Amino acid sequence: MPGIAIVGLQWGDEAKGKIVDFLSGSFDIVARYQGGPNAGHTVYYKDTKLIFHQIPSGILHPNTKVYIGAGCVIDPVVFATEIENLKNLGIDYEKRIKVSYKAHLILPTHRLLDVSIDDKRRDKIGVTGRGIGPCYEDKHGRKGLRVENIERREFKEKVTENMKRHYEILGIHPQNLEEEVDAFIKKALLLIPFITDVSLELSKEVKNKKVLFEGAQGTFLDIDHGTYPYVTSSNPIAGGVFSGLGIPPGSIEKVIGVAKAYTTRVGGGPFPTEAEEKVASLIRETGNEFGSTTGRPRRCGWLDIPMLRYAGVINGVNGMAITKLDVFDDFEEIKVCVEYKVNGKRIDTYTPLISEKNIEPLYATLKGWKQKTHKIRDFDVLPKNAQKYISFIEKETGIKVFMVGVGEKREETIITPYFSL
Ligand code: GDP
Ligand code: IMO
Ligand code: MG
Repeated sequence: MPGIAIVGLQWGDEAKGKIVDFLSGSFDIVARYQGGPNAGHTVYYKDTKLIFHQIPSGILHPNTKVYIGAGCVIDPVVFATEIENLKNLGIDYEKRIKVSYKAHLILPTHRLLDVSIDDKRRDKIGVTGRGIGPCYEDKHGRKGLRVENIERREFKEKVTENMKRHYEILGIHPQNLEEEVDAFIKKALLLIPFITDVSLELSKEVKNKKVLFEGAQGTFLDIDHGTYPYVTSSNPIAGGVFSGLGIPPGSIEKVIGVAKAYTTRVGGGPFPTEAEEKVASLIRETGNEFGSTTGRPRRCGWLDIPMLRYAGVINGVNGMAITKLDVFDDFEEIKVCVEYKVNGKRIDTYTPLISEKNIEPLYATLKGWKQKTHKIRDFDVLPKNAQKYISFIEKETGIKVFMVGVGEKREETIITPYFSL
């Protein structure tokens, strides 16, 4: 019974968390395959807003197990806070969280390096400061510490050695290194009850259990396939599921791509459809577009169809979830980029020329619907112009829309007639 992957089709924050939370009640397992606490996935639990950075959003459903795979990086401090939050909410999590012994550990000094390296760049990436890049650098440089090290001999020595090395790079002489190391180890020990061989367990379970793969970040933040170097350090695309969890190709039956009804991006890098400040701030205020992890204002602009076409192809998207449609409820007109024009040439899909200064998005303009949609649960009841907007996206991308988001709560979701799992 191969699983369903939920993948971001833009630059992250597409509302993957909400879609995972909406679907995961009918799944046995939710697994994260990449990224770390740079993710901020917002979900609601009995009217309480929760933002998950490290633990998969499916944990709120009492019968769902969650896995954190080898492709992820784990900050024990963030993990401990999330466990504590679950405990305070009375959620029984103890036997339902499984962490790969192969995942890498984010040390406090990875966070310091992250900020310091980005500060020195001429063209800043605008990292989340969660230590992601430096931790994956240590992993690929074969210098990192994995979750399995927590239970092995000489863990303290290895943490000390790594942190010393980082402090040397930073040019800092730490005053209380041993205290810092001990504080880190105290949190890391809390991971022990959850450690397992995720690859082996999940490879077996995917044969007869319903599994949802929860992507973090998005296609264009992918280290290989995104807008390099303005990307994260892992592989959010659907292909990342197999290496990130160590499970066989064939473990995915369907891919649901999540995209907002418009486009946002946090941090630096190209963004052809970024709107002028008047429109951008209207989208930002209406859509509450401030980072879930860092609180930074998100850059906002119109929907970029060439990006969706490309993301649809490379992720093998079977259906899309278009979220935050309600943000346009009061708009007179909505623009959608259908092609780019660069150096006199028209291009209808994502291209490396996206970073050219003279790239010109060519827009179609659609009429708004000027009507509240929060309470609507049936696609046919949506205002006609809202239906037209969705149909336009389907026609231009060649991908059917399975779900439409009309509000931040779990139930503020429309299942379209095309939906199938
Ligand atoms: P993720 O990182 O992809 O999980 O997305 P985030 O949680 O970072 O950002 C999505 C934001 O939009 C959160 O604040 C959600 O509560 C909110 N949200 C999700 N779906 C909808 C929707 O359909 N309409 C509105 N207005 N807000 C939504
Ligand atoms: P979710 O899972 C949006 C962005 C950062 C920065 C770049 C690199 O919530 O969609 P990093 O800290 O990963 O080295 O930062 O990637 N970024 C995100 N943007 N949503 C995210 O996650 C992101 N995770 C990283 O803003 O531009
Ligand atoms: Mg987010």
